[in-house]
Amino acid sequence: MSYYDTVIRNGTLITPEGPVNADLGIVGEKIAAIGQGLQGREVIDATGKLVIPGAIDPHVHLEMPAGPVRSSDDWVTGTIAAACGGTTTVIDFVEPEPAPAGPVETLVETLHATSLRRALAARRAEAEGRAVIDFGLHMTLLDAQPETLAEIPAVVAAGCPSFKTYMTYSMKLTDDALIAAMDAVGRAGGMVMVHAENDAGIAYLRRKLIEAGHVEPRYHPISRPASMEVEAIERALALAEAAECPVYIVHISTGRGAAAVAAARGRGQVAFGETCPQYLLLTDAEFDRPGFEGAKFVCSPPLRKPEDNAALWRLLASADLQTVGTDHCPFFYRGEKDLGQRDGAYPPFTRIPGGMPGIEARLALLYTFGVRAGRLTVERWVDACATAPARIFGLYPRKGALVPGADADVVIFDPDREVVLTHARATSRPGASHIYRLHENCDYTPYEGFGLTGWPALTMLRGRIIARDGKFVGQAGGGRFLERGDG
Ligand code: URP
Ligand code: ZN
Ligand code: ZN
Repeated sequence: MSYYDTVIRNGTLITPEGPVNADLGIVGEKIAAIGQGLQGREVIDATGKLVIPGAIDPHVHLEMPAGPVRSSDDWVTGTIAAACGGTTTVIDFVEPEPAPAGPVETLVETLHATSLRRALAARRAEAEGRAVIDFGLHMTLLDAQPETLAEIPAVVAAGCPSFKTYMTYSMKLTDDALIAAMDAVGRAGGMVMVHAENDAGIAYLRRKLIEAGHVEPRYHPISRPASMEVEAIERALALAEAAECPVYIVHISTGRGAAAVAAARGRGQVAFGETCPQYLLLTDAEFDRPGFEGAKFVCSPPLRKPEDNAALWRLLASADLQTVGTDHCPFFYRGEKDLGQRDGAYPPFTRIPGGMPGIEARLALLYTFGVRAGRLTVERWVDACATAPARIFGLYPRKGALVPGADADVVIFDPDREVVLTHARATSRPGASHIYRLHENCDYTPYEGFGLTGWPALTMLRGRIIARDGKFVGQAGGGRFLERGDG
């Protein structure tokens, strides 16, 4: 009889073929077998638990530069938080320096111009030796100059086949640049990711609101209405179709936007959609919080209406919407979101750094409000949080599913564990035994006080236990860069 290094026994495994009651055998860093009565040198009892692949978060921003600040979770704190919440792989972004404006004429300027490969190497080096879980990187495209596009095949070959573009913010690509980028990426066998919002429309609405003195956070969603996202998604899909480039629309906040992606897929286009827990669970009512508290929820696109929540759940359940990423991009409320104001003279909503924390609780939020609430099957939960991101981003079958030969990234999920989320370090609340202190490096969570039933009991990365009962027990720098195949 062969002995495995570790056997996870008596759990319900959620495999691509559905739930099975079986043992999981691990040898070294790999899943070696799924079967009955497996013997191991170490045995972990998973009676009453779900055994699932480590979750994959395809959209995080760790240490992301944002004007004078950086997002507050770094590669250590952010990946520890992810591990405690059952995520074993994140995909972050390379943010290259913008190329100089105008034609690149001199040698000095040429050397100065953005080099995607140099930026990739630098970003990878920033994470290596610090990330505690495995990580990949998407490349951000800030322009479609010939020198930039010429680098795309080399970036794909370096394991980075997904390219992030913005239709808004100062990093936006105009339509002619976006289609050129899509054309180049498509020919290189890659995929373009798009933050889709209509920049000109938003700029006009913002200006009008500010001129009228409407500066409070509750005007943020009014400045970026649903129609601005829907139009931009339709346009991005049209450009990608014409360029014959696979496209992935990030952080979809509206039911209409998600339906547009589903319709494109129905026509045979290679298109994917991602939403986030905040767009499934929160609404624009958060912006009406007293004082400046609404600033905590400022992100783009903004939180929407309950009808959008419901439509996104429906499309997620039917897999017309493929993935759930977090868009984890935390900034401290005190000193960052409030730009250091103390006297009530707060800045206009246009100056609030956009983004919020969320890397840790995605899997559990989706379990409680998806699976337990009857909105998602347990298979679809695993698919949206692990298998679909792995397939779309060139990590499957190494990651994202419990199959022999895959990395032994495994979560033992306790479906009955009750937790109440808080960001606070110490608490004397009644019922404190259920209080779960998030590890995210931030002074708030948008999910403060959320009661969940279901939380990871154990997280394993390539055969090693890295988190147990909400405590990190792995090693700093234990994560590896993932060279991904064409996404
Ligand atoms: O407001 C947001 N979502 N900030 C993070 C950066 C982005 O747009 O994805
Ligand atoms: Zn974005
Ligand atoms: Zn983002």
